[in-house]
Amino acid sequence: MDAVIIAGGFGSRLRPLTDRRPKHLLPVAGVPFLVHQLTKLAAAGVGHVVLATSYRAAEFRPVLGDGSDFGLTLSYLREPEPLGTGGAIRNAVAALSTGAADQPVVVLNGDTLSGHDIAAQVSAFAAADADVSLHLVSVADPRPYGCVVTDEAGRVTAFAEKSPWPLSSQINAGCYVFRREIMTDIAPGRVVSVERETFPEMLRRGRWVVAHLESAYWLDVGTPATLVQASTDLVRGIAISPAYRLPPADRLVHETAAVDDAARITGGSVIGPGSMVAAGAVVEGSVLLPDVRIDSDAVLVASAVGEGARIGAGSRLREAVVGDGAMVGAGCRIMPGVRIACGAVIADGTLIRAE
Ligand code: GDD
Ligand code: MG
Repeated sequence: MDAVIIAGGFGSRLRPLTDRRPKHLLPVAGVPFLVHQLTKLAAAGVGHVVLATSYRAAEFRPVLGDGSDFGLTLSYLREPEPLGTGGAIRNAVAALSTGAADQPVVVLNGDTLSGHDIAAQVSAFAAADADVSLHLVSVADPRPYGCVVTDEAGRVTAFAEKSPWPLSSQINAGCYVFRREIMTDIAPGRVVSVERETFPEMLRRGRWVVAHLESAYWLDVGTPATLVQASTDLVRGIAISPAYRLPPADRLVHETAAVDDAARITGGSVIGPGSMVAAGAVVEGSVLLPDVRIDSDAVLVASAVGEGARIGAGSRLREAVVGDGAMVGAGCRIMPGVRIACGAVIADGTLIRAE
């Protein structure tokens, strides 16, 4: 079976962590995020994955290789200018393995960590003889997502992307099964949104679009808060991924990291390769990329710190995002929601609030 992962977005909500890498390669529980999806697809019986990339496209292959590490074959596509979610899916058709027109093709948004059973979704799609199947989950606030309305028979009747007045609490969870020939209905070679154009158009034309409701663990890792949450949930065993096999723990410290015995690392925090945490420092529910340095008595809560950044002694950060190579001086207070640019230098004793 073929799958397509659409991974060409800019990851704007994750800046500055995505200034220098695509969000899809940010570490989540110690591995590049896409490793979770690729491992899961292989376990569901997918043998070939087309990775539809655009932003920082050249960075994917050196990290993910030919797919053999995950038990599948990987093909890479690069859109010189992003084609949108629908355009990316249409563009991927040419790279699929040769197969029958009615073959199912799994399509994933490249930023969702989901515990749902992809093989079961494919089976249900085949049994229903549908054109497209959408995995749906229920959330408290559907406004940042694609809101999906279904009838009693489980057929999708409406799709409204990022509606300020959502008609249901069910949202598009970003895992589709397409009948292969349906993918070619999307107009080729131009920017198309699958959510704003393709799905509503399919419903107008009476296509058989079915819902696959499964309420397993689900998170879109596209914001700093959810990226950190996904990572800490995996480490603590709250989320499950076939790519993460360690027993539930309070921390994941890379073997090349140096953590002082008098430092406290908790809440499922990840300490990346080459990072250092000094005595008296507290790292709680946070993610440290490689080569970060946390000086003595600094306190970091629910934050993400970019590669090579340094947090000075006694500084306190909560729900903060620190870009690569930034230097936060000693005794600083960084309040929730603050983003510190890559390479920024923050003087000792500075207080920063979110704007
Ligand atoms: N190749 C390619 N080209 N990929 C793209 C492009 C593009 O032009 N634009 C976006 N993508 C990829 C992103 O990299 C991401 O993996 C996926 O498409 C979804 O884009 P996001 O920017 O993360 O969308 P979203 O999170 O606001 O909304 C989407 O996901 C929600 C669930 O997490 C929509 O599909 C919603 O309907 C859905 O509820
Ligand atoms: Mg997203």
